[in-house]
Amino acid sequence: MRISIASDHAGYEQKQALVDHLTEQGHDVIDRGPDTDARVDYPDYAALVARDVAGGAAERGVLVCGTGIGMAVAANKVRGIRAANVTSPVFAALAREHNDANVVAVSGRFVDLSTNREIVDTFLSTDFGGGRHADRVCKISALESE
Ligand code: RB5
Repeated sequence: MRISIASDHAGYEQKQALVDHLTEQGHDVIDRGPDTDARVDYPDYAALVARDVAGGAAERGVLVCGTGIGMAVAANKVRGIRAANVTSPVFAALAREHNDANVVAVSGRFVDLSTNREIVDTFLSTDFGGGRHADRVCKISALESE
């Protein structure tokens, strides 16, 4: 799968490890940076990944900041993005099954790498449930026209 990934300084270390992990798994990874752990503003990097996913350059996005919250809030400003801030594998599965989330935002400071690897793997391998969930996701999309 083609995956776009980015972080801020707080998520940099785990982002690098997740790039390696996803590449080892055979995914086609677009690393949108940053390339160092120097302080940056997370909305700039959330926007790069969100635009990749919304525009079709990537099928899914992965974002890492201190909590994952700021990245998710910023990514959700881009039309077509459903970004979920996820701290457990079960929430990763539910974000896909119920919400058809196309971007996952994880915490580099409060969740360990092993758990985040599992979160990302679950997020990428779980299908959307459709049915009643599809009606609700349509209602989310309709809000973008307000
Ligand atoms: C950076 O200090 C921190 O605010 C950021 O990584 C993130 O947690 C924001 O939501």
